[in-house]
Amino acid sequence: MSNSLIKPLEKYRKSLRMLILPYKDFLSDLKQFKFERCLDLGAGTGFILELFYDNNLINEGIGVEVQDIYYKKLNDHLSVISDKSLSEIKGKFDLISIVDVLHHVKDKTEFLKKYLGNYASNNNYVFVKDMNPRNPIFRTYNRFHDLVFAGEKINEISTQNLTKLMEELGFKVIMQKEKRVFLYDHYWILFQKNV
Ligand SMILES: C[S@@+](CC[C@H](N)C(=O)[O-])C[C@H]1O[C@@H](n2cnc3c(N)ncnc32)[C@H](O)[C@@H]1O
Repeated sequence: MSNSLIKPLEKYRKSLRMLILPYKDFLSDLKQFKFERCLDLGAGTGFILELFYDNNLINEGIGVEVQDIYYKKLNDHLSVISDKSLSEIKGKFDLISIVDVLHHVKDKTEFLKKYLGNYASNNNYVFVKDMNPRNPIFRTYNRFHDLVFAGEKINEISTQNLTKLMEELGFKVIMQKEKRVFLYDHYWILFQKNV
C-alpha cells in the first residue's frame, strides 16, 4: 500500500485497535515482571513500545520494521528502525515482543530463529500476542478484517504450534492467556529462555 494511503488510515486503525486489543489485560499480566530494554519485532508505529514505556514496563526500546514509513525516533528512549540498522545496535535486550506480527510472517520458524537466535540470551523473555485461530468463525472474521485493513491473506499460528516451536528453540511458557474481545480472539504468551 502507498504511504499516502497508509498515513490517513493509521489514526483510524489505532482507535479501532484500542477497542479490540486486550492491552489492559496483558499490561497487567506483564506488570509483575520488570524489564529493562525491549526489542519489538514488527513494531509498526511503535505503539507497543510506547505502551510498555508509558506503563513503566521498560526503560528503553528498539522496534524493527520492514516498512520504512515507520522508521523514526519516538522519544529519547524509543525508536523504530530497519533490520539492517539493528545489526549496528550494541547491548542486549531482556524482552523481545512480537505483537500481532506472526500471522503476517510466512516462515515463522525462520523469523523466530533469526531474531531469537541473535538477540535473546539466557533468562530473556519473549512476549507473543497474536490472533487465536482456535474458533473457525472468529478466525474467518479476523482473516476478513486483515484482508480489508492490511490487504493481506494472513496465516495464524495456534498456541500449541507456537509453544512447540518455541520449545524447540529453547524457551518455556511462563504465562499464557486468551480472551475474546467483540469478534476478535486473542492469545498472549510469555516465554522465558531456558538456562
Ligand atoms: C499488525 S501490525 C502490528 C504492529 C505493532 N506490533 C502493533 O502491535 O501495533 C504488523 C506489523 O508487522 C510488520 N512486519 C511483518 N513482517 C515483518 C518482518 N518480517 N519483519 C519486521 N516487521 C514485519 C508489518 O510491517 C506491520 O507493521
